[in-house]
Amino acid sequence: MSKTEEIKKQIRKTYGDVAKSDPSSSGCCSGGQAERDIANIHAERLGYSKEEAESVPEGANLGLGCGNPTAIAALTPGEVVLDLGAGAGFDAFLAADKVGDEGLVIGVDMTAEMVEKARANADKIDAKNISFRLGEIEHLPVADATVDAIISNCVINLSPDKPQVFAEALRVLKPGGRLAISDVVATAEMPDEILEDLELYSCCVSGASTIDDLRAMLEEAGFVDVTIEPKDESREFIREWAPGAVVDEYIRSASIEAKKPGKQSCC
Ligand SMILES: C[S@@+](CC[C@H](N)C(=O)[O-])C[C@H]1O[C@@H](n2cnc3c(N)ncnc32)[C@H](O)[C@@H]1O
Repeated sequence: MSKTEEIKKQIRKTYGDVAKSDPSSSGCCSGGQAERDIANIHAERLGYSKEEAESVPEGANLGLGCGNPTAIAALTPGEVVLDLGAGAGFDAFLAADKVGDEGLVIGVDMTAEMVEKARANADKIDAKNISFRLGEIEHLPVADATVDAIISNCVINLSPDKPQVFAEALRVLKPGGRLAISDVVATAEMPDEILEDLELYSCCVSGASTIDDLRAMLEEAGFVDVTIEPKDESREFIREWAPGAVVDEYIRSASIEAKKPGKQSCC
């Protein structure tokens, strides 16, 4: 099995297990036993309001994010939004609320159990403007130039082929379309024992790229107006992801924004 296949197998196992467990706790791959309240407290630490956290169907917020992409995406009614690695749908449901009935949110995830859970969550509220699709963010099941905004929460670090993710993102965005991503970035060189640890990889640690590398990948893909803002305060919750492994010395959560060149059509 290639290294890429091994990584993806581990990620599907990690998040398949999370999807099958009860509403969870704080951290990229925590999953498990804690109550919905704990996931909501984590959401508030990431900048979601209490009302937002409580507005989504039960089981959508699994406490897996590391930021709040819907807060930076400036979504407006009628837009088409794509959520890369949508999980059980937390950000997708919030985005669907912002784009309204005239808009559409597409959530893509490669873990079958997550997609199943997200679809069940959508059924709970009879959502008509959300579509959850099984697929890899390196090979998006989305047509060319059809998306206004791409959001993503703590996912792209998990891809073993980030240039391909950004190439796909550029392909599906309309001219002038935007990326609004929350993800971890590497702020210090990681030791080999962290880099080679597959579990830490699937817990959003070892696959984090540096800010310079991310910027270069985005610009090489063709994005412009790239901004990457690491958040020092994220250290507090990152510390809880892998107690004992001091991962907060090496990564931070960041807001990552970029645009596809071109003029957005007005109507
Ligand atoms: C840390 S969780 C975040 C889930 C969701 N964004 C949230 O905030 O609740 C990462 C998710 O990304 C998905 N994922 C990881 N790598 C992926 C890839 N290459 N293609 C599609 N989905 C992927 C996993 O299956 C998992 O559901």
